[in-house]
Parts: sequence; C-alpha cells; structure tokens
Amino acid sequence: MRKYADGVAENMEREEEMKEKLEQIKAEAMEQIRNSEALERLNDVRVNVLGKKGALTAVLKSMKDVAPEDRPKVGQLVNETRAEIERVLEETVKKLEAVKREAQLKAEVIDVTLPAKKNSVGHRHPNIIAMEEVERIFIGMGYEVVEGPEIETDYYNFEALNIPADHPAKDEQDTFYINGDILLRTQTSGTQVHVMEQGKLPIRMIAPGRVFRSDEVDATHSPSFHQIEGLVIDKKITFADLKGTLAEFARELFGEETRVKFRPHHFNFTEPSAEMDVSCFKCGGSGCRFCKGSGWIEILGCGMVHPNVLRMSKIDPEQYTGFAFGIGLERIALLKYEIDDMRLLYENDIRFLKQF
Ligand code: DAH
Repeated sequence: MRKYADGVAENMEREEEMKEKLEQIKAEAMEQIRNSEALERLNDVRVNVLGKKGALTAVLKSMKDVAPEDRPKVGQLVNETRAEIERVLEETVKKLEAVKREAQLKAEVIDVTLPAKKNSVGHRHPNIIAMEEVERIFIGMGYEVVEGPEIETDYYNFEALNIPADHPAKDEQDTFYINGDILLRTQTSGTQVHVMEQGKLPIRMIAPGRVFRSDEVDATHSPSFHQIEGLVIDKKITFADLKGTLAEFARELFGEETRVKFRPHHFNFTEPSAEMDVSCFKCGGSGCRFCKGSGWIEILGCGMVHPNVLRMSKIDPEQYTGFAFGIGLERIALLKYEIDDMRLLYENDIRFLKQF
C-alpha cells in the first residue's frame, strides 16, 4: 500500500517535473523565436528545439522513465508543446517573410512617373555619309575600295608621283614630318602607287582616307581632312573615259541636271590635268550666294596619269594609260549639306551632327 502510495507520489512528481520541463522548453523556444530577426535564425530555433538532438526530442526520449500508465498523458503534453511551438514558428516565418518581401518591394520600387533614361545613340558624321555615298557610286561602276597608310615615306607621297625633291609643288603641301623621310601624307594620291606596284592590271579603284597639312584652322582649312582618290589603268583609256566617268559621278551625286566643266590645271602626276566644276545645284547655274555668283562649284582635281608615274611603278606607258582624280571629301559634305564652316565638322557636337 505504502509502496503503491509512494509510487503514485513519485509518478506525480515525474509528471510535474516533465510538465515543468516542457513549460520551460516552450518558454525558451518562444523567447528565441521572438528574438529572431531573420528567417535563418528561426531555422536554428527549429533545429535546437524540434530537431533530432533538440530539447523536445530529448524529453520524448526520457519517456521511458515515465510510468506506462502516465505515458499517454505526458505524450499528449509533449505533442501539444511541439504543436504550439510549431504554430508560433510557422506564424513567425510567415511574418518575417512578409517583412522581407515588403522591404524588397520597397527597394525595387519603380517610379513610372520618372522621366525615362534616354538611350543616347550617336549619329553618322556628315563626312561619313558623304563618303559612303561616293563609295556607293563608284562601286556601282565596278571600282574597288582600297585603303592606304596615313604615315607615308617621301617616296610615295611625292617622289613616285613625279614631285622630285625641291619641287615647288612640295611647298603647297607642307606637312608634319616624323623624320626627314617619313611624314603624314598630304594627299591620298600615294595610294595609287601602292596599288600600281602590286602589278595587277587593269586597275579600277578608289581610296578614301585622312590626309594632313600644316594649315591653320579656319572656315575652309584644317590640318587634317579627307580625300577620295580614284585611279583607272587599262589599255586604251582616254580623256573621254575620264570625262564620262566623272560627269556620271557628278550626276549621281548632285542630281540628273548637273553639268560639268573641266578647267586646265597642273598636277605633277597627271598630264594633261584639270579641275572639274559642277553646275551649282542650288541655283542651277544662274549664280547665287552658294556658288559665289559664278554658277559653278569646283569639286575635284583630275588628269591622265603621267607616263613618268606609270614608269616608276613598273607599268609600260606605251601599253597602258589611265586617269586619276582626287575629291576633297569635306568639300562634298559641306556642299551637299549646306554647311558654311568646316570647323563644325570637327567639333563633334551631336546637336549639329544629328541634323544630317
Ligand atoms: N592630290 C591632289 C591634291 O591633293 C588631288 C588630285 C588631283 C588627285 C589630280 C589626283 C589627280 O589623283 O589626278 O590636290
């Protein structure tokens, strides 16, 4: 009897002890949950309390010390505690997730009333537009587009073009010298020599590119500008071919009504030489501010390739003849787009460039 009574008392005690223990675990878990500011911390709490080595699991393991008849009661208590902790845990997870989402939304908020970021795209330069137009016309006539070096030797820039040392023509094309022999090219004409030297005939090419002269900057001059060189070499090429080709070029570039005029001129590398004028496309030839009242506008230099030039590049002038021309690209761009100051072309102000 006594023993029985003792046993009951003991069991009651155990039960009380378990209850207390569970209360304590719950209180601690709640405290930890409350103090968790991040979702990761909540996971720690879950592991610490409900995990395999968690506090509540330890209580379950000690169930064997509880009298069999009390086990259901204690077991229920454990389950209730677990359920309660899980519930609060879940609730808190949801709350923290909501807080996180809220913060994210706030951080990534898009104000649709703000002005859009402008995607500023560049614009093709009037020089380039004009150059591509000239290229298009000559490609259409079967010409090849080639490129020559901007840094040249005296030979290619002068000597091989029939401009010997001390010739006064050199004075007109003073340039930037790297040393006595190497210089920045003053004209694209040297490219003719590079192509002729390759020995492949016939030749029908244009060579656009940058050239240099030690000129002061003003409305019509710049120390760096562009030319488009042209060269045709074949058997039986005559001045008539030159005229026909360049007249057709002028009509394509400036319009069907355009007339051309050839004025005798002098270039060392051509004989005969000429400058070609086009009838003013603004006034049609009657004279205006654009053509300075003359009705004509000069656009290029040209001529039949000098026999000396052919010979120096190992082409027999008895068998082959040819013509050449040099177009000032800026000249074309300024005329075509009615720009009256060359400096505008080099300032690269996008507001200016965008107009063309
Ligand atoms: N190179 C000459 C200049 O800069 C332009 C020129 C004229 C080129 C006649 C030629 C040509 O090929 O035949 O003034």
